Amino acid sequence: MKVDVLLGLQWGDEGKGKIVDVLTPDYDIIARFQGGPNAGHTLEFDGRKFILRSVPSGIFQGGKINIIGNGVVLDPALFKAEVEALELSCSDLADRLYISRKAHLILPTHRLLDAAYETRKGSGKIGTTGKGIGPTYTDKVSRNGLRIGDLEHNFDEKYREALARHEELLQQMGFEYDLAPLEKAFFEGIECIKRFKLIDSDHFINDALRNGKNVLAEGAQGTMLDIDFGSYPFVTSSSTVCAGACTGLGVPPSRIGEVYGIFKAYCTRVGSGPFPTELHDETGQKIRDLGAEYGSVTGRPRRCGWIDLVALRYAIMLDGVTRLIMMKSDVLDTFDVIKACVAYEINGRETEDFPYEINDSVKPVFAELDGWKTDMSKMQSEDEFPEEFNAYLSFLEEYLGVQIKIVSVGPDREQTIIRYEE
Ligand code: GDP
Ligand code: IMO
Ligand code: MG
Repeated sequence: MKVDVLLGLQWGDEGKGKIVDVLTPDYDIIARFQGGPNAGHTLEFDGRKFILRSVPSGIFQGGKINIIGNGVVLDPALFKAEVEALELSCSDLADRLYISRKAHLILPTHRLLDAAYETRKGSGKIGTTGKGIGPTYTDKVSRNGLRIGDLEHNFDEKYREALARHEELLQQMGFEYDLAPLEKAFFEGIECIKRFKLIDSDHFINDALRNGKNVLAEGAQGTMLDIDFGSYPFVTSSSTVCAGACTGLGVPPSRIGEVYGIFKAYCTRVGSGPFPTELHDETGQKIRDLGAEYGSVTGRPRRCGWIDLVALRYAIMLDGVTRLIMMKSDVLDTFDVIKACVAYEINGRETEDFPYEINDSVKPVFAELDGWKTDMSKMQSEDEFPEEFNAYLSFLEEYLGVQIKIVSVGPDREQTIIRYEE
């Protein structure tokens, strides 16, 4: 069997959590492959709303195995909080949620280092989520990290070594901190992790595939935040592209099946960094208000703009997307005109190719399409789509070269329309 991958094509928050939940009935195993609690994946069903940080979004569909893969970085304190909230609804959580021994641990000092580095960058700061993501992946790559598997061997000694190293760095930067409450929550979190099955997820997933099980790999963040291909340095510290599912789960490229690329009918971004189609006017505010574009965890207002097809086509190329999923179409229901960026003008020349770097000289070139001016939020099938909406879909499909398989018209699980039924 194959591993299907679902990942964000923009700057995160595309609606990955909702669609993983919708697709879960077709799979036996759902596995997160990168990122950590910088993610906030929202699910809504039966009038309830849940936000997942590290736990895969397949957790609410009964009988499915959910795996936190080796490419993920896990914060014990935040994991414990997430587990406690989930256990109110999922009584068998510990039977269905497994953690890779090769996943790395976010230590309290990683969070402090994240804050210290951001402070030092001043106005050039990345606007991280402050969850210690960068410092944890830095330790992983520099071969100083602590892994879940270390909980089973000399953990205290390894922890003290890392602590001494991190405290030296914090002192060098003159960063003041109070470690005691963070450490208390960390060690309580460690006890919580030990209640779960710690597995060799690489073997587990490959065995499952050989035994005919279907696996869905759930991405976090988005392709434009990828460490290699995103708007560096304003990116996260992991491989958010499809290839990250191979290294983040230990599956060979030949095992990758469908690649679901998910995008909003417009664009958003949180934190600093370039965003060519950003709207600083009342249209941007209207999108933010109608789309409730405020961070699901931090509450930070998300920057909003029109869809950027140059960046989207670049992401589709990097990820090898086979099926597109368009989210939050309903947010544009009341607009007279909808714009789509079809090229960049750079120093007087137009290009459809995503450049090495996006800077102030990159200006978006827009196509204008008629708005559909129809409430789509209660629609059940594509037969109900207004003509202008179909024209928007066709325009995007033609530019992007991939079919839009699913259209989402609201946050609830039910507000999902599958097109091209096979
Ligand atoms: P993720 O990080 O990719 O899982 O996305 P987030 O959960 O951070 O952000 C997506 C937000 O949009 C959440 O608040 C969802 O409940 C909401 N949402 C998802 N799909 C739709 C949709 O089609 N329409 C509207 N209006 N909201 C949606
Ligand atoms: P989900 O999975 C949106 C952004 C941060 C910042 C940059 C680096 O919910 O889509 P980090 O803490 O990772 O070092 O921050 O990446 N960022 C996200 N933006 N959605 C996310 O996750 C994000 N995770 C990180 O805002 O600009
Ligand atoms: Mg999110």
